[in-house]
Amino acid sequence: MSKWSFPQGDLMKGKRGLVMGVANDSSIAWGIAQQLAAQGAEIAFTYQGENLERRVRPLVESIGMDTMIPADVTDDASMDAAFAQVKEKWGKIDFLVHSIAFAGKEELQGSMVANTTREGFRRAMDISVYSFIDCARRASEIMPDGGAIICMTYLGAERTVPSYNVMGVAKAALEASTRYAARDLGVKGIRVNAISAGAMRTLSLAGIRGGKGLMSTGRDWSLLKEDTSMEGVAGCALYLLSPIGRSITGEVVHVDAGFHIVGVPDISEPGGGAA
Ligand SMILES: NC(=O)c1ccc[n+]([C@@H]2O[C@H](COP(=O)([O-])OP(=O)(O)OC[C@H]3O[C@@H](n4cnc5c(N)ncnc54)[C@H](O)[C@@H]3O)[C@@H](O)[C@H]2O)c1
Repeated sequence: MSKWSFPQGDLMKGKRGLVMGVANDSSIAWGIAQQLAAQGAEIAFTYQGENLERRVRPLVESIGMDTMIPADVTDDASMDAAFAQVKEKWGKIDFLVHSIAFAGKEELQGSMVANTTREGFRRAMDISVYSFIDCARRASEIMPDGGAIICMTYLGAERTVPSYNVMGVAKAALEASTRYAARDLGVKGIRVNAISAGAMRTLSLAGIRGGKGLMSTGRDWSLLKEDTSMEGVAGCALYLLSPIGRSITGEVVHVDAGFHIVGVPDISEPGGGAA
């Protein structure tokens, strides 16, 4: 059933946690969940609304899990109920995966200066940034023995990327929030990190004008000359969430085949090629 293959093991044996942001079988959260499950984790899933439940339930059941909780990150009552349900089920958790973002289609095209409305900015920041701070607080309250939290970011936080616009601004704030959360929660033994993934074919990417071009440029300019793999992203998530990621906190780890360090791509010259 899976499009990817993940190494089995017991790095997450005895660990329980929440994965937020599975919308379909292409979601980054779904790849991460499969890798964590393959290493023995027990996972509860949140989903955004009834429409998604039908798509997400068969996935969750395919890996032998059954806990699915509705959660709209813009709605405090929904978030209160979701975390109360997790607490009631397990009492405490060991990890949290936040893989949630949103900006309107109208914002994800053309000029950032011309197309960012006050409401569009507020919505992007609320869903893509505040929700992470809110989840980190709620999760930390049910992590009495310490734990690990991750979120998903993109190079558009650090460099300009066409059409990424207000989402780049939101990702910059998300990365700063990761560092501040790591600072606040370190004393509780909770590590907080972000994964900066290269462009991947998901529903979110489809919302960005020219999203396919972000994928092809990401591959062609990358050092490995390949697309960012779900296996690589999920493997990094496993590393950051399991005991082998011990001592690592406040980091933004790039998983993008080396794309982020390229200033100028290889120049092919007639009869020559890259030096
Ligand atoms: N696809 C990429 O190229 C890429 C690259 C780097 C980072 N990311 C980030 O990865 C994360 C996951 O995105 P994805 O690419 O897997 O796409 P996706 O569309 O599969 O996942 C986005 C998720 O956000 C959820 N969401 C949106 N608004 C919500 C709300 N109000 N309440 C609850 N959930 C809400 C959606 O239901 C969905 O599950 C996002 O943070 C995205 O910015 C994606």
